[in-house]
Amino acid sequence: MEMLGMSAKMHDEARQGEAFAPVVSGGNQYQKKFYIESYGCQMNFSDSEIIASILHNNGFGATVIYQEADLVLLNTCSIREKAEQTVRKRLTEFRKLKGAKPGMLIGVLGCMAERLKAKLLEEEKLVDIVVGPDAYRSLPGLIGEAETGHKAVNVLLSREETYADISPVRLDSNGVTAFISIMRGCNNMCSFCVVPFTRGRERSRDAYSIIAEAKELFNSGYKEVTLLGQNVDSYYWIDEEKDEIITFAKLLEKVALVNDDLRVRFSTSHPKDITEDVLHTMNKYENICKHIHLPVQSGSTRILQLMNRTYTREWYKAKIDQIRNIIPECGISSDIIAGFCTEAEEDHKDTINIMEYSRYDMSYMFVYSERPGTLAAKRYKDDIGDDVKKKRLQEIVVLQGRLSQESNQRDIGKTFKVLIEGESKRSANDWMGRNTQNKVIVFPKHIPDSKKGDYVQVKVIDCTQATLLGEVI
Ligand code: SAH
Ligand code: SF4
Ligand code: F3S
Repeated sequence: MEMLGMSAKMHDEARQGEAFAPVVSGGNQYQKKFYIESYGCQMNFSDSEIIASILHNNGFGATVIYQEADLVLLNTCSIREKAEQTVRKRLTEFRKLKGAKPGMLIGVLGCMAERLKAKLLEEEKLVDIVVGPDAYRSLPGLIGEAETGHKAVNVLLSREETYADISPVRLDSNGVTAFISIMRGCNNMCSFCVVPFTRGRERSRDAYSIIAEAKELFNSGYKEVTLLGQNVDSYYWIDEEKDEIITFAKLLEKVALVNDDLRVRFSTSHPKDITEDVLHTMNKYENICKHIHLPVQSGSTRILQLMNRTYTREWYKAKIDQIRNIIPECGISSDIIAGFCTEAEEDHKDTINIMEYSRYDMSYMFVYSERPGTLAAKRYKDDIGDDVKKKRLQEIVVLQGRLSQESNQRDIGKTFKVLIEGESKRSANDWMGRNTQNKVIVFPKHIPDSKKGDYVQVKVIDCTQATLLGEVI
């Protein structure tokens, strides 16, 4: 595995498709340079590492300075309208540059490429290349076509592609934590969601290649891997040699067994698919982190039905109970949408109320944004006014703030095993790391020879809404 330079760490919000972080690297043994910027979820950031690998093998080295690039790539997100607007704005900036540097190629990759296809070439006149999430292997060929002045598009979705054999080039890495993509696509049809259309059918990656990647990461000094998928709990792969079905619980166990010192996380869990088996496997291995991202979306059974989430409010609450019973110390976080079609004040209260019940440590919170082509766009009217959506979101945000504060306060006085990820952003005298529940802990660099990638015992002495403050013991 190749290591490249660093840049801004991925912003947490970026996972959800709003912000972006330039992805970076160095190296001057290449004839041509590419620049890539990633938007959207962790899957997209992980794809950029595959793209970087494909480009490296074809004579392109990465640069952080887009002005000096021969090829500028945007790996885009379509999850909400705002995410697409951000990309369009960025394209306008690149277009100006291209005016002065006509040989430069601009490529749009990822979910927006898939959603808009060749339309992007018409709408954004100076885009040369459009490539969907399952077509990255064709990128070198498409670049060749674009170099000869042809517009190049490949947005074919695949039922098989998992890029299992491509060793990602780690971009923007802290050298301690890394993502491993275990599946692609999504077969759920949540009515608000564009992902099934941009990412295609669900398929699971060869378990051996996942374990090999985890081992390789551990051998290069990494201490934590996050297994990624839109719905990890529906991972399903058949080991034909051993005639064995590998479920997510089994995969989790296999990755946990790579090494006791390699932490394992996973995201995202659809509440309907996380099994008791997974919960028991989490309990069985100390190095499987006790944190579940369990997006509720809404607390109202009626709205959940319209969203096609396939569970009721009561069922979700029972799932929370089950998690708390089996893994009492488990951290739980969520995604919440305010103002979905027909949402009444009563439905909103149900959301507020299920948040209180679930006591989330943190949540990603959004107002509903209608996406063309989705079931909700076809069937229901986006009938909640912006003001009402924003007011409800605000109430949700305020409540989550209180819940996070309370959750952090409950940790004061407790001691946690923390993996040091790097220096605190605020002070060079402090380390920043996470506990098993995925909470961020900042603490002074007391121990003289403590370093990035070490596990240390930290006692929590204070907190803010977002961070625990501790001291090493
Ligand atoms: N596969 C993951 C989530 C993928 S998208 C899962 O099922 O949990 C991440 C989050 O974006 C979703 O959980 C949802 O809360 C939000 N989201 C998706 N589509 C949206 C839309 N049209 N408007 C607002 N938020 C949306
Ligand atoms: Fe979208 Fe639902 Fe699939 Fe998540 S599970 S990606 S919200 S369709
Ligand atoms: Fe966005 Fe595509 Fe991810 S729509 S959230 S980048 S799967």
